[in-house]
Order: sequence, then C-alpha cells, then structure tokens
Amino acid sequence: MGAHRAGIRQKLRQGAVFGIAVAHLAVIGSSVTLHHGELVVTLRVLVAGGAGFIGSHLCDYLVAEGNEVVAVDNYITGRAQNVAHLAGHERFTLREHDVTQPFAWRGDAVFHLASPASPEGYLRHPFETLWVNAAGTDVLLDLARESNAKFLFASTSEVYGDPLVHPQTEAYWGNVNPVGVRACYDEGKRFGEALTMEYVRQYDVDARIIRIFNTYGPRNDPGDGRVVPNFIAQALSGQPITIYGDGSQTRSFCYVRDLVRGMAAAMFTPGTQGEVLNLGNPDERSIRDFAATIMRLTGAEAPIVHRPLPADDPKRRRPDITKAQERLGWRPTVSLEEGLGETIAYFRQELGKQTLP
Ligand SMILES: NC(=O)c1ccc[n+]([C@@H]2O[C@H](COP(=O)([O-])OP(=O)(O)OC[C@H]3O[C@@H](n4cnc5c(N)ncnc54)[C@H](O)[C@@H]3O)[C@@H](O)[C@H]2O)c1
Repeated sequence: MGAHRAGIRQKLRQGAVFGIAVAHLAVIGSSVTLHHGELVVTLRVLVAGGAGFIGSHLCDYLVAEGNEVVAVDNYITGRAQNVAHLAGHERFTLREHDVTQPFAWRGDAVFHLASPASPEGYLRHPFETLWVNAAGTDVLLDLARESNAKFLFASTSEVYGDPLVHPQTEAYWGNVNPVGVRACYDEGKRFGEALTMEYVRQYDVDARIIRIFNTYGPRNDPGDGRVVPNFIAQALSGQPITIYGDGSQTRSFCYVRDLVRGMAAAMFTPGTQGEVLNLGNPDERSIRDFAATIMRLTGAEAPIVHRPLPADDPKRRRPDITKAQERLGWRPTVSLEEGLGETIAYFRQELGKQTLP
C-alpha cells in the first residue's frame, strides 16, 4: 500500500507552505500552477465541523493559504454565520451534512473537527457526540483512505481525564471515568483515537491525532458554558462572574490563531503519520486569576459568585508541548492579554448586535 501510494504521488518541495519552513508535500490530483514564477499548490481540503468555532478559523487559514476548502457541518453546535464571510469565495464551499452518514468527496486532506466540544454541547447531545466520534470518524477515515488523502483527528486533552501526571505528555494514558456524565465526550474521543490508529496500522492511512487543550477566541459561542466566553459575556453585560469551585483549579488557554497554525503543521509536516501531538498553550493559570484578568481587560466591576464544581471536572490542566515544538517547530506566540483583547472586542460587537432592536 505504501509503495503503491508513493508511486502515484508526486513529491513537491516548497518553502513556506502552511508556515512550515520547508514542507515536502505529497500531492495527489491537486492543481499545481506557476504564478509569477512561483510554484502554487492548491490542495483540496475537507473540514468536517467547518462551521464551528475552531473549524471556521481553520477554513479562513486554509483558504488564505490558497487551498480549495469544502466545509461540512450539520450545525448541531456550529453556525453557518461563522463562515458567512467566506460565502461566494471561489475556493470555499459550505455543505450541510451529518458526517455520520457517508457522502462523496475526493481530495488531499481531511480535518475531522466535527463534534460537540463544550460540556454544554455534549451533555445536551450525548448520543450525537458518541456517534460522530465513532461512526463519523469511520466515514471520514474511509473517505481519506479512498482518496489517499491525509487525515487529522481533532481529539482533546479530555482523554487525559482528571490527570494524575503534570504536565500531560502524549505518553500519559489518562485517568478517565468511563461511565460518568462526561464519558460521551472523553470516551467518544478515545474511541476515535483508537479507530484512527487502526486505519494507520491496517490500511496505512496517512493519519495523525492532535489533542487540543482549551482554546478560545472570536466566534466562541457565548452561550456554550466554556470559561472564556462565559467570563467575558458576564463581565461585558455587568452580571456576576461565575466561578465553579474555589477557582484554584487551573487551565491553560490557547489562542485560536496559534492553534490553527499548529493544526496545519501537524497535518502537513512530513513524518507525522500515526503520531499523537498535544497542541495548546502551557501558560497555566488558576481560574481565579483568569477571572481577574478578564475583569481588568474589560473594566468590569462585577462581583464573583461561586458554584459547586461539576462532576469529574479536572483540577489541573497544562499541556506538555515539547513534542509539537520538536517535531513541528510549532509553539504558541499570542499572549493571553493579546488574545483576550481580540476576543473581548469580538464579544463587544456580538453582544452589541443582540441588544439592537
Ligand atoms: N475548543 C476547544 O477548546 C477544544 C478543546 C479540545 C478539543 N476540541 C475539539 O475541536 C473540535 C472543534 O471544536 P469547537 O470548539 O470548534 O466546537 P464547535 O462545537 O464550535 O464545532 C464543532 C462543529 O462540528 C459540527 N458537528 C458536530 N457533529 C456533526 C456531525 N455529525 N456532522 C457534521 N458536523 C457536525 C458542529 O455543528 C460544529 O459546527 C471538536 O472536535 C472538539 O472536540 C476543541
């Protein structure tokens, strides 16, 4: 299979594609043209979950890099509005479809981001969450296999559960409650990872897994209960800031622009087949500190209210990104203050729209 694929693929060497210093791109059927003396490679890329928060930023990035992007989404937690600015672009298509159902596509790379991601989303849609990470992953891996396309599974730091090891490296197997309320997400992702690895082992699919740690940015859904959008929306609307527990639990927040660069690097850096890579920002802060930073940046003077910690809520979360740094040459560069500044500006605009008649 490997030899067969090598035979039909044309290996291209191109500098500065996807922000990678020198990327060796394995391309099948993509268009390669000369433009003002420069080699232009157009990859055909599928983004499952492309109308979601991260998916929409990934679509922006891939289109801006000159690729042809098909975003597929059933809008269970995403919004077509997230990619409305790309509508009508000649290299962008949005298709409404549930990826647990087979569909036709041929191309060069499949990013699988389709899954409810916030506790609010997966607790409301537990079966859909299990199913999209099981059947949906199978459908998308099959498409990649048929197309000889690259594949990336967007997994999560939640596969580490309530970790007993800090910070978490990819070698840590996790501490997950398999029958708890969060299992639909945690175990769904763990199944998706296992399935991805079987497609690598049994069919030599050029697939990799990334474990995303908490990510934030513009287009975060203000109603989905995640820490950053929650705090910002509360601060901007003058409501009390809700902290679960005493606020000593930690999180590490990665700005979405940094994350999508890392995703593209994970997909297109040579030698990443079958690899598992943590992507996140190791800048670990307590939830209490984080609330204080948002209050400072928004100028809010809202009181803080404490609520009980949800079940199986991890106490500490910080990625070890040594592997991504070494293998991909990637690390986050946007500071928390800069990322929050852009996110707060977006929320001000969005919340402003909601109060208009
Ligand atoms: N945001 C984070 O901090 C974070 C952290 C870890 C992992 N992830 C992973 O990254 C991916 C994207 O997360 P996000 O924050 O953008 O969430 P999101 O909910 O905004 O995006 C997910 C998208 O997938 C779509 N989707 C779900 N089921 C589908 C189906 N059956 N068919 C087609 N589309 C479907 C949703 O409608 C949504 O647009 C998810 O797989 C998530 O598990 C995100």
